[in-house]
Amino acid sequence: MAGRKRDKAGRPGDRKGGPAKTRGRPERDGTAKAANKSRAKPAQGARDTRAAQKSSPKPAPNARPQQDSKQAPQLFDRPLTPHSGSLPAERIPVILESVDDQGYQLLDSGKGEKLERYGPMRIVRPEAQALWPRRMKPGEWDNVDAIFTGDTEEDGLGRWAFPKAPLGETWPMQLMGVDFHGRLTSFRHVGVFPEQLAHWRFMVSEIEARKGAPAKVLNLFGYTGVASLIAANAGAEVTHVDASKKAIGWARENQALAGLENKPIRWICDDAMKFLLREEKRGNGYDLILTDPPKFGRGPSGEVWQLFDHLPLMLDVCRAVLSKNPIGLVLTAYSIRASFYSIHELMRETMRGAGGRVESGELIIRESGGEPFEARALSTSLFSRWLPHE
Ligand SMILES: C[S@@+](CC[C@H](N)C(=O)[O-])C[C@H]1O[C@@H](n2cnc3c(N)ncnc32)[C@H](O)[C@@H]1O
Repeated sequence: MAGRKRDKAGRPGDRKGGPAKTRGRPERDGTAKAANKSRAKPAQGARDTRAAQKSSPKPAPNARPQQDSKQAPQLFDRPLTPHSGSLPAERIPVILESVDDQGYQLLDSGKGEKLERYGPMRIVRPEAQALWPRRMKPGEWDNVDAIFTGDTEEDGLGRWAFPKAPLGETWPMQLMGVDFHGRLTSFRHVGVFPEQLAHWRFMVSEIEARKGAPAKVLNLFGYTGVASLIAANAGAEVTHVDASKKAIGWARENQALAGLENKPIRWICDDAMKFLLREEKRGNGYDLILTDPPKFGRGPSGEVWQLFDHLPLMLDVCRAVLSKNPIGLVLTAYSIRASFYSIHELMRETMRGAGGRVESGELIIRESGGEPFEARALSTSLFSRWLPHE
C-alpha cells in the first residue's frame, strides 16, 4: 500500500501485527413498585439512548433525540484533512461474534424479546430484531429475575418488573476476568454491551502483545467503563471520556469493584469531540482508539453530538491523534439507519494513504446451548475498524 509515512498531524506509520481474531447475587433492597407489572410490548427501534439515566431536568447527555434533533448541530471550525494515496485494503463483510463468556449468555430470543444471563441474573428485554419463534419452553422464560416493562409512567427501577423478588439497581458481574456492576437502567440497558466482547478480546491480545511501553488506549463515549477496565487490566494506560458525570461515577465504582484503583486510568467528564480537538492541539497520541458514539448525545455543557453531522470530523481527528505505532481505530455504531458500508467507506476515506486495512460489518451475539447450527445470531450493531496491517 502507498503512503504509510507519518505526517505532521500524527498519522500512523508502519507496524507489524497479526490479524485480529474475528470470533469471536443480585442486591435486594426492598420495594420495587413494578414488581407485578405486566410485560410491556417490545420497544421498537434500537439503542440510541444507551446510557446513564437522567438525574436532573437538564437533558441527559444521551437523552432521546426527538425533542432536540431540530437544533442546529454544533459546528467546529476545523476542516477535514485532505488525504492522498490509496484507500486502505478492505475486508467485508466481517461478522464479529460474541459467544458465551462466563459472565454472559444469550439464552434464547424470539417473539420480539431476548432472554439473557448477566452473571447470576436472568433478564428479559425487548429485542425488535428477534422476529423468529423462541426455542426454550415458556417455563424458562418465566424463570427470570428482571423484565424490562418500559413503563413510561415510571422511571429507573420502575421500568423493570421483578417476578421473583424486588431487586436493587446493581449486582456484581464479571467479564474477561474484570469485576463490575450490572445495572438496571431506565433505558433498558444493563450497564454493559456484551456484543463488544469481540472488540475487547482483540484489544486485550494486542495490548498484551505490546513490548516496551504500555499501549495507550482512548475510550470515547466510555459509559460505565467496562472496556476501559478490561484495557487497564491487560496493561494499557487508559483515557476514558464520557459526558455524563453519573456514568463516570459508575465507572469509578466499577474500578474499585475490580480492584484496579492502582491502574493508570484517566476518567474525563467532557464532550468527546472537544476533548479530541484539544488532544490534537496538544499533540497527544493514542495507540488504540475505541469510539462508540450514540446517534445523538450531549456534552456536559450541552454540546450537541449528532452522529451523521459529526462522525466524519470525529474520525478525522481520531486519525490525527493515533500514535506512530498504532493498534487501530475501532468504531461501533448503534441505532442508525445505515448500512455498514456507510461507516466502512467513511473509515476508508478517513484512513486514505495510511495503509493497513479496514474491516467492517456487524457485531452479533450467538445464542448459547443446543446444537450449534440451531443457535441463532442476534445482530446488535455495525462496526468498522482500521488496522495498521493488511
Ligand atoms: C453508546 S453509550 C457507550 C457505551 C460504551 N462504549 C460501552 O460499550 O459500554 C453512550 C455514552 O455516550 C455518552 N455521551 C453522549 N454524548 C456525549 C458527548 N457529546 N461526549 C461524550 N460522551 C457522550 C453517554 O453519556 C453514554 O455514556
